Amino acid sequence: MSKNNIYIETYGCQMNVADSEIVAGILKNVGYKITNNIDNADVILLNTCSIRDNAEQRIYGRLGNLNKIKQNNPNLVLGVLGCMAERLRKDLIEKKKVVDLVVGPDEYRRLPEFIDTAYAGEKGIGVKLSRTETYDDIVPYREDGLSAWISVMRGCDKFCTFCVVPFTRGRERSRDLDSIVNEVKQLSERGFREVSLLGQNVNSYDDNGRDFADLLAAAALVDRSIRVRFTTSHPQDLSDKLLYTIAEHPNLCNYIHLPVQSGSNRILELMNRTYTIEHYLELIDKARKIIPGVSFSTDIITGFPTETYEDHLMTVDVMQKVRYDGAYMFKYSPREGTKAYRMDDDVTEEQKSKRLNEIINLQQNISYEVNQELMSAEEIVLVEGYSRKSNEFLAGRTDTNKVVVFPVSEDVSKGDYVKVKIDRATSATLFGSLIEMINPYPERIQLTG
Ligand code: 5AD
Ligand code: SF4
Repeated sequence: MSKNNIYIETYGCQMNVADSEIVAGILKNVGYKITNNIDNADVILLNTCSIRDNAEQRIYGRLGNLNKIKQNNPNLVLGVLGCMAERLRKDLIEKKKVVDLVVGPDEYRRLPEFIDTAYAGEKGIGVKLSRTETYDDIVPYREDGLSAWISVMRGCDKFCTFCVVPFTRGRERSRDLDSIVNEVKQLSERGFREVSLLGQNVNSYDDNGRDFADLLAAAALVDRSIRVRFTTSHPQDLSDKLLYTIAEHPNLCNYIHLPVQSGSNRILELMNRTYTIEHYLELIDKARKIIPGVSFSTDIITGFPTETYEDHLMTVDVMQKVRYDGAYMFKYSPREGTKAYRMDDDVTEEQKSKRLNEIINLQQNISYEVNQELMSAEEIVLVEGYSRKSNEFLAGRTDTNKVVVFPVSEDVSKGDYVKVKIDRATSATLFGSLIEMINPYPERIQLTG
């Protein structure tokens, strides 16, 4: 049979976005075509997320929709990839008869084989986790653009008691440093202007003694006009060396996503987060001294088992002390198989909603105030294109990951760096006017070899 069109739909974190590109790379290598149009698809793959129950419910809803498409097109192959595939395994096929293949995050190399199995009328299941798979030799399939995700490590060994990731993505393992640097080189040659190095826990990156700071420095030296970002960091492994490395390289972005999860030491211990709030706050202070102007975002879970209103107020207190530039906030969702699943989910839905609303409102006020402090500041912006609302404005991001909107100028196009003077701000967006085009990180160093 001639090779067909594959459509991939991605849910969840950026790690999944990067994985979908690896999947596309693997399938293209054996002759499949990747389509952006679901109506042309012979194979539909959903790359899924299990982090909270509502993520899974959304995907069940989508499978219901796709079932209808499948009834009109019985040859259509429907597959579930990613964390839900790993978590639910054959239950997914038994529960959702429409699903033909279920493939977890470490078995993507076998996808062509599973698709063949599905064409032969059988169900394909591949859910083994690996201690070594990093897809190091696979060239991810990416359309041209400005920003690329590069996964540099896989899995997680931290075992936070609420989190399903160690079960769905397995043990921690790191990719070879030189191959990552090579990937950055190739992206530079293709005109990319930003790379984000991804891992569930990037700071525990370890390639035979070369640590995450070494990797960041090497990635930053490839092309000074490429911004290098990274996510996610665990407070336990954010070393001084890493902070000094960020400070030293102009194109390593001054932005750290540092999940705190809760402001209560008692809850942090129940979560197995391995730090105290005092330690966390010291880390933030230290980072601010070493990297002037660094911005922080965080993740917070509200309503973890036994969380009292006093514990919640401690989270509020940390938010007020740190004054994050942004925060992702979630209601606790029990996940089967985790340690916290065995604890009583005793914070009521109503209390969770109330606490969540409180911290969302608080963060909005803080983001607004933090952004007001940027009034009259001159920010370097990487232009991403027209603003979402109007073609009379361009939009881009600062080094600290804030969106900046400014009037269109003839000389400026996507991919340029410009200096913008900020004159207005909401909690989510900075507005300003163009000062000049610039070459922000002028020293372009070519690596040899
Ligand atoms: N319930 C709610 N939020 C969760 N997260 C992870 N597991 C859960 C859960 N069971 C949040 C954490 C993590 C982010 C990616 O998702 O805040 O940092
Ligand atoms: Fe990503 Fe976590 Fe969702 Fe898996 S469970 S897709 S790792 S966010």
